[in-house]
Amino acid sequence: MSENAQLIIGDKTYSLPVIEGTEGEKAIDISKLRDLTGYVTLDVGYKNTGATTSAITFLDGELGILKYRGYPIEELAEKSSFIEVAYLLIHGELPNKEQLDYFQYEISRHTLVHEDLKKFFDGFPSKSHPMGQLSSLVCSLSAYYPESLKQVQTEEELHLSIIKMLAKMTTLVSWIYKKSLGHPYIYPQNKYDYVSNFVYMTFGQRTEPYVLDPVIVKAMNTLLILHADHEQNCSTSTVRIVGSSESNIYASVSSGISALWGPLHGGANQAVIEMLEQIKEDGGDTDKWIAKAKDKNDPFRLMGFGHRVYKNFDPRAKIIKKACDEILEKLGIDDEVLEIAKKLEEVALKDPYFVERKLYPNVDFYSGIIYRALGFPTDMFTVLFALGRLPGWIAQWKEMKEHKEPIGRPRQIYTGKVNRTYVELKDR
Ligand code: CMC
Repeated sequence: MSENAQLIIGDKTYSLPVIEGTEGEKAIDISKLRDLTGYVTLDVGYKNTGATTSAITFLDGELGILKYRGYPIEELAEKSSFIEVAYLLIHGELPNKEQLDYFQYEISRHTLVHEDLKKFFDGFPSKSHPMGQLSSLVCSLSAYYPESLKQVQTEEELHLSIIKMLAKMTTLVSWIYKKSLGHPYIYPQNKYDYVSNFVYMTFGQRTEPYVLDPVIVKAMNTLLILHADHEQNCSTSTVRIVGSSESNIYASVSSGISALWGPLHGGANQAVIEMLEQIKEDGGDTDKWIAKAKDKNDPFRLMGFGHRVYKNFDPRAKIIKKACDEILEKLGIDDEVLEIAKKLEEVALKDPYFVERKLYPNVDFYSGIIYRALGFPTDMFTVLFALGRLPGWIAQWKEMKEHKEPIGRPRQIYTGKVNRTYVELKDR
């Protein structure tokens, strides 16, 4: 028997359908609420609003569970590769060897970006933030691939747009890095897999042969897998809502990149390292900074702590913390900020302020320390998050299209002035 929710407004009772997901999550379907009652719901920041049904990613914030297409993140991070996870997210199933090889082959045919696009790099000041560059460059890809602009794409055209989006991203990200150094761009090589090609284009030099370091390739695979999707977060919701107006894939992903940039979302990985550096320079007194984070008159927040959904622990943070220790050891790096991070975590996890509010380290708390150990400058960290999140954005964008979801358009409750009469400028 299907369940219903009863809503009482005044002397009237309304029955609203309850829907249940495959993991037992329940929602009251209010899509007809306004027609039935004249009311809308109000939920600023969408703290308790399901915007869609989705079969891509499941997370349980209370139990610290994260699964892509039903597979636990812990298993994928340990056993899989990023490109395999990208296939899984986009197509819904793990590929067999032949499917994976073909997916990789298709991507490798499209890793070159149009040479004219290089001129865009000349226009950016050398110190411009990589996220601004990436968002602009991704959007400008639409100018070179006009088939993506068609309102209705054939399945083949849609597939090709997805392959191109995945393929161009590694080239653009590594070229942004090269530009920051003033070094020549390295062109992709089809012999490499997705992540290896990215590492090669980023750390390779034109002047000498590059030998891939398996520690770096493995670390990048793990980090990118952990960031690959996270259901309806700020940037993914942005991608879906932009895509819902039938914007092309490049414009939709570009808007996701812009949404990710902020320090409360993907930009937190950069903010964490900057915070840890600041604490180090200030003498490393973690108690002082914990007190600042708790002080409501101080705007300082403990970056890399807290999460809208995780209220127990972030499973990604657990994996990254362990990986961080292992990778730094393998690379022989002793980073002082790692000790500060661990001390902060230890103090915060015992402090009633953080305990009561269920604030735990999130994915960004330790990821920056690894990126830094791999050789990335701080302002590249969020771009790496974007590279990881790309398959998730694509999968969610594709699902939104397949569901034929209507244009995203929230309501509001107007609280402004009413019924004013225009006063001529001379009379004001
Ligand atoms: N440091 C100090 N206090 C905090 C923090 C923090 N990092 N995070 C939340 N709080 C407090 C907040 O002040 C509030 O206290 P009170 O109830 O007394 O007003 C309470 O905890 C609830 O916070 P909120 O801002 O209402 O929670 P939210 O769900 O709206 O925000 C968040 C979630 C992630 C934006 C927030 O925890 C935060 O700003 N964290 C730091 C930034 C960060 O690390 N972001 C990365 C998130 S994970 C990567 C991703 O997927 O984006």
